[in-house]
Amino acid sequence: MNFAVLASGNGSNLQAIIDAIKKKKIKANLNVVISDKKDAFVLKRALKAGIPTVVIDLKFFKSRASMDKAIVKELKGFGIDFVVLAGYMRILSSYFVKAYKNKILNIHPALLPLFKGAHAIRDAFDAGVKTTGVTVHFVDEKVDHGPIIAQESLRIKKGESLKSLEARIHKVEHKMYPKVIDFFAKGRI
Ligand code: GRF
Repeated sequence: MNFAVLASGNGSNLQAIIDAIKKKKIKANLNVVISDKKDAFVLKRALKAGIPTVVIDLKFFKSRASMDKAIVKELKGFGIDFVVLAGYMRILSSYFVKAYKNKILNIHPALLPLFKGAHAIRDAFDAGVKTTGVTVHFVDEKVDHGPIIAQESLRIKKGESLKSLEARIHKVEHKMYPKVIDFFAKGRI
């Protein structure tokens, strides 16, 4: 099975995926990393690991739909079977979702359907919930929405800082996502 990672930022989840592939904990090929941000650190991580990168920036397209057509064209060109979103800060068009129906995964740093959006860890922290966590789900056309595949919860400690919570959430993500990706690649989801 061949997959692609789409990401817009730091790429710590991509790094966890790359490390898991090296350790043979993911038995699938990561053929390409696609980003919408040419300066994203995630691209450096991919290059260092020898993985081809492609930048597809909305500013060169008339619309989100035409941008997504270009992405799907690249994915087909790289022989991609499934797509892994890892901090990709865009909503996918229905064209994209249909092209890879039930074959697009996303990771979100909260227990969906709670705390959707770009500031989920902080929003959960500010809300004062005692438990938050991480969700991996299939992607549809809505933000942080679609059938849930896996969740892991995490208790917020008394007096814990936001920074500490963020670090613990990311640690959970980096263990959980490679596992789910491997399960998916083996047809177990
Ligand atoms: C992660 O917290 C992920 O759950 C969310 O975006 C963040 C990406 O972080 N969707 P990174 O770029 O993988 O470090």
